[in-house]
Amino acid sequence: MRSIIDVLDLSVNELDELIKTAEDIMENPDKYAEKCKGKQLATLFFEPSTRTRLSFESAMLGLGGSVLSVTDGATSSVAKGESVADTVKTVSCFADIIAMRHPKEGAALVAAQSGDIPVINAGDGGHCHPTQTLADLLTIHKEKGGFDNLTVGLCGDLKYGRTVHSLINALSRYNNVKFVLIAPNELKLPEYVKSGVIKANNSEYIETSSLEEALPKLDILYMTRIQRERFDDKDEYERLKDSYILDAEKMKKAKSDCSVLHPLPRVNEINADVDSDSRACYFKQVKNGKYMRMALILKLLFDNYTQKDEEYITDKKCTNVRCITSVERGIKHKFILRKSDNTCRCIYCEAENK
Ligand code: NCD
Repeated sequence: MRSIIDVLDLSVNELDELIKTAEDIMENPDKYAEKCKGKQLATLFFEPSTRTRLSFESAMLGLGGSVLSVTDGATSSVAKGESVADTVKTVSCFADIIAMRHPKEGAALVAAQSGDIPVINAGDGGHCHPTQTLADLLTIHKEKGGFDNLTVGLCGDLKYGRTVHSLINALSRYNNVKFVLIAPNELKLPEYVKSGVIKANNSEYIETSSLEEALPKLDILYMTRIQRERFDDKDEYERLKDSYILDAEKMKKAKSDCSVLHPLPRVNEINADVDSDSRACYFKQVKNGKYMRMALILKLLFDNYTQKDEEYITDKKCTNVRCITSVERGIKHKFILRKSDNTCRCIYCEAENK
């Protein structure tokens, strides 16, 4: 039984396989229409979602399976104080596979450890969002033919944007990918991604706050929403929310083949006048996400796999207040000693603990 919590749970070869399967499903949907007959997917979404939940559900229905849904924590037993572990043990009695979104970092890992069916992380707080990365990768693959030698600009909320963290994790495993990190000072990429991923993979990167300056160099521009729900200080959000607005005028500075991606939903960061530009790929990304999720569901339900167990267990507690371990009862705090940057990190949220 295998779960996908982080995009690094998939090897580069497996990502290639998923891309090939997704492309085959797109071309031959009938061949796959009954593959999951009799199987049930539970979507447990404790945070708002339109695309991701519907994409998972549409994916399972497209494979001939069926779907059970929790669309709002307030109407489930979570509102009565039920833990993630108990929720997952219960859902495992009905479903064959779970896709879960939760506001706490590491919640998906707790879910994966609690039940006996595969769990797919559909977003855990500001931490990771591996299946959005699958959508992003298929889109980049279709637009650029591969991932090597690309200059990728990531713009907006690089601090709380979980899609950015997962995408950097995936792309830094390819050859000569250069990152241009475009963010205001307050929303820069967390150190655990910068040193633990970009530097550890010897990828080149620069940090800037100017989208206009960065734009002419980029092969990919990945715009993101400022993540209002993650701000402790609402005045800071108001000050930063319109830091970047891409519009048709600014697009004149971009390369003629620069692909513009965005995980969506957008607020103000991409003006509607960019939508008709042939370089705008964000609605293609939505479509691609469904096919990658179909490929992933097939892989998790029908591939054999043994999970590696390498965590280092200690008695101390994770100090990150956004970590699932701050609210989930009876959880074992676990840490991993990461050699690449010589740090001790919580296995759930990856925050460094001294
Ligand atoms: C993203 C998310 O939930 O992190 N949305 C999505 O799943 N497509 C991005 C966002 O909410 O800004």
